[in-house]
Amino acid sequence: MSNLSRPRVIAIANQKGGVGKTTTAINLGAALAARGRRVCVIDLDPQGNASTGVGIEREDRRVTSYDVLLEGAAIGDAALPLGTPNLTLVPATTDLSSADVQMMSSGRRTQHLRAALLRSAPDADVVLIDCPPSLSLLTVNALVAADSVLVPLQSEFFALEGLSQLLLTVREVRQTANPGLRLEGIVLTMFDGRNRLCQQVEEDARSNLGELVFETRIPRNVRLSEAPSHAKSVLDYDPDSKGAIAYRALAGELLRRLARDTKEEVDG
Ligand SMILES: Nc1ncnc2c1ncn2[C@@H]1O[C@H](COP(=O)(O)OP(=O)(O)OP(=O)(O)O)[C@@H](O)[C@H]1O
Ligand SMILES: [Mg+2]
Repeated sequence: MSNLSRPRVIAIANQKGGVGKTTTAINLGAALAARGRRVCVIDLDPQGNASTGVGIEREDRRVTSYDVLLEGAAIGDAALPLGTPNLTLVPATTDLSSADVQMMSSGRRTQHLRAALLRSAPDADVVLIDCPPSLSLLTVNALVAADSVLVPLQSEFFALEGLSQLLLTVREVRQTANPGLRLEGIVLTMFDGRNRLCQQVEEDARSNLGELVFETRIPRNVRLSEAPSHAKSVLDYDPDSKGAIAYRALAGELLRRLARDTKEEVDG
């Protein structure tokens, strides 16, 4: 996919809670892994939903994203293999909630994750960072470390208002610590084509943001919400479900975007 040995780092971010960040990190990760890409998901949320959702018990979270950010741990030592081939996850514990304060008082406070990735890039083609629902220093660390940001947007009223705040933060990060940060795209989640409001959000998003909005929409699908309680991605839990089909399509679309970006970089 990429001719660079460094993995492609994608932050999955939206400061709004419950929009599908974690669901996207796990299932997009699994869908990319199913296509043979080596994927490392970094759980950067003190809630640890991604870690729990793939079935990593708390006592097995020995080296965590906190240790990677603040204790100099190598990402490869923290990344745990999952049931899915090609997929690993760096777990989070509630310790991570104190990372913000600790990084705040440190010198290069926005650079901790970037430094960790430079010092110990995981053996992966793609790194997906599952961000917490805030524009805290954890999310800023993800944006500073990332090549691009992928934004799950729940198809509901006010979705676009929240987005402008996120885009402002992306712009600030570009102007300061990470000029190369790109918007990978916006993905509409929990989409219901029969719902007038969903249609309206999609129309507004596509007319305002054009090609930034992925063609693929993630439907509201109960299999997606059930899969984590079985410690599985939806691809393993119910491969024929609408949710699994959608995340496979999103992976295909993302890989086409990445291939195009790589070509642009090579062609200059
Ligand atoms: N497409 C979907 N269809 C049905 N349920 C979904 C879908 N996407 C996510 N969910 C459910 O909605 C809830 C919120 O999703 P998720 O945890 O992925 O959001 P999040 O943005 O990571 O939340 P937080 O901001 O708290 O980290 C979860 O219970 C999840 O199972
Ligand atoms: Mg989450």
